[in-house]
Amino acid sequence: MRDLEAVRALDAADPLAGFRDRFILPAGEIYLDGNSLGPAPKAALDALRTAAEAEWAQGLIRSWNEADWFTLTDRLGARIGRLIGAAEGETVVCDSTSINIFKAVQAALALNPDRPVIVAEGDGFPTDLYILEGIRSLRPDLEIRRAEAGGPTLEYLLDDRVAVLLVNQVDYRSGARRDVAAVTAAAHAVGALVVWDLCHSAGVMPVDFAGSGADFAVGCSYKYLNGGPGAPAFVAAATKHHGRMRQPLSGWWGHAAPFAFAPDYDGDPGIRRMLCGTQPILSLRAMEAGLEIAEEADLAAVRAKSEALTDLFVEAAETLCAGHGLTLASPRVAAERGSQVAFRHADGYPIMQALIAAGVIGDFRSPDILRFGFAPLYLGYADVVEAVDRLADILETGRWKEPRFQKRAAVT
Ligand SMILES: Cc1ncc(COP(=O)(O)O)c(C=O)c1O
Repeated sequence: MRDLEAVRALDAADPLAGFRDRFILPAGEIYLDGNSLGPAPKAALDALRTAAEAEWAQGLIRSWNEADWFTLTDRLGARIGRLIGAAEGETVVCDSTSINIFKAVQAALALNPDRPVIVAEGDGFPTDLYILEGIRSLRPDLEIRRAEAGGPTLEYLLDDRVAVLLVNQVDYRSGARRDVAAVTAAAHAVGALVVWDLCHSAGVMPVDFAGSGADFAVGCSYKYLNGGPGAPAFVAAATKHHGRMRQPLSGWWGHAAPFAFAPDYDGDPGIRRMLCGTQPILSLRAMEAGLEIAEEADLAAVRAKSEALTDLFVEAAETLCAGHGLTLASPRVAAERGSQVAFRHADGYPIMQALIAAGVIGDFRSPDILRFGFAPLYLGYADVVEAVDRLADILETGRWKEPRFQKRAAVT
């Protein structure tokens, strides 16, 4: 384990250190849950105030034009598009990730109409699988093939009957990272299209959406993009698909001329066809502040620091918490994981509650995962060591055994 002086030297030399001041972070707390909900950018609160007090309260309906509300979906989409390496006009912000998965998978199915199979990860984020079940309820001929842990791999399940592969770049529990270009190429080799779930990678690592030849992508903006609780998600579609792309939530915002109020649907020729209806403007306004910060940061530097922070955490936890039953559940090699680290422990839930009470906020994922996210824009190296010190103290004293830490809350 590196000594404290070496850790402080890393913070002193950190090119991203200046970004921390752009966020509101409660004093004394170490926030290791930015992979679930990013903290509030200071500018987001100003933006919310302006949007509510000036644009909504005073501007009223005029603000759709005068405050450019109507184009926020496209303008914010363009910003996220640059962060995920999409070409211009390929990304739009709207709805939730779950809804965008529905639209993107349906669009991909419609582009591959003669194939009856969807492949997905059996242990992927449940909403991905739930939405696929919903799609199958509309099309009972569909077969959903799941790559289960210990069973055949995703790649093995691909064949010429597969229409769509739905896959995460970074696994929400273990943090294991997939190679977007390689997986996309494997799917294309059998004629399948790919929908990438980028929830755990957008904003924290470079994603070469266009360069990798990916077809569709979705993701949230409330994690590493710091867009705010329930902030709208994004959906990207490769330009090559725009001409033939169809999705069934054909609401008026996806119409080529929404204000013509024509009785028949004539979809927008570009990415706006992925829109459905009116979007939450206050949330979009708050989200803009997070994106402004994200695009000022050099993503290569963000990724390099993310690897260093997660390495330091693994090294410190395995040293300082040795003998207390923690087992690493993330890839050991930094290049093979996202910006999070998971440890298994049979008493993971109460340990995490005790840790949160001690001011280190991570989360718990059933059945036994303590999950820690490392957002390089507001975390330092000394924070990581301090977080592990507090975890070691909880394990050594057995404080997590107190009854108050055993009670399960609705959100874990
Ligand atoms: C990988 C992944 N996909 C999808 C979602 C769900 O997104 P939403 O609830 O915003 O639809 C999450 C939420 O944490 C997620 O981690």
